[in-house]
Amino acid sequence: MQIRLQKYIADCQAASRRKAEELIAAGQISVNGGVITEMGYKIDPGTDRVELGGRILVPPGEKIYIMLHKPKGYITTAKDQFGRPDVAALVAGIPARLFPVGRLDYDTSGLLLMTNDGDLTYRLTHPKHEVPKVYIARVSGQVNEQVLSDLRDGVVIDGKKTASAKAVIVKDWGGSASLKISIHEGRNRQVRKMLDAVGCKVLALKRVATGRIYLGELPEGKYRHLSADEVAYLKKL
Ligand code: URA
Repeated sequence: MQIRLQKYIADCQAASRRKAEELIAAGQISVNGGVITEMGYKIDPGTDRVELGGRILVPPGEKIYIMLHKPKGYITTAKDQFGRPDVAALVAGIPARLFPVGRLDYDTSGLLLMTNDGDLTYRLTHPKHEVPKVYIARVSGQVNEQVLSDLRDGVVIDGKKTASAKAVIVKDWGGSASLKISIHEGRNRQVRKMLDAVGCKVLALKRVATGRIYLGELPEGKYRHLSADEVAYLKKL
């Protein structure tokens, strides 16, 4: 069902209906990433992502926090021009509209936090609060100490040096290796670009932890609700 944008903003208790109209007119509201200034614009609360100042608006109600083991081959953004499958399909059993906390590439698998708590999403994805994220990368070729120290010191990607990172070899098969890399920035395709910059070809990439929240043995494609302790930990970050 479609409703007017200003009504949705008011339903989310972000502003009164009148103030919501002012926010729309002032170009402060975006829908699925595009600014909307048209009064009377209608949205579908079930599929559209409405943001005010980068904060996703969700109607009040029970807050749900889950982790999904995202398989590769799914996108984390709401709408895709190529019609690729969306992680929302994997959590369809949950009676709430959940948003991914940050991104995970189409080709990357692993831990994806999802919630309808817009404030927590905003804080966890804000560059100031970037939480360390741990990845396991399977790469081809020989990984030597120089490669590891370059990754740790920072490499230039998209014209800017990455912040210091942790990088260790988990297993070395000779022609390929498995690396554990921990970063605390959230730049687009950062780990893939870092590995590319040091000459490593990525065969597979998986996120295994966000801060002290671990993927563990959760099967691929499955989700679980976070424990009260895990939610409390995320809220304190
Ligand atoms: N770095 C990447 O390259 N891809 C991701 O999905 C996450 C971090």
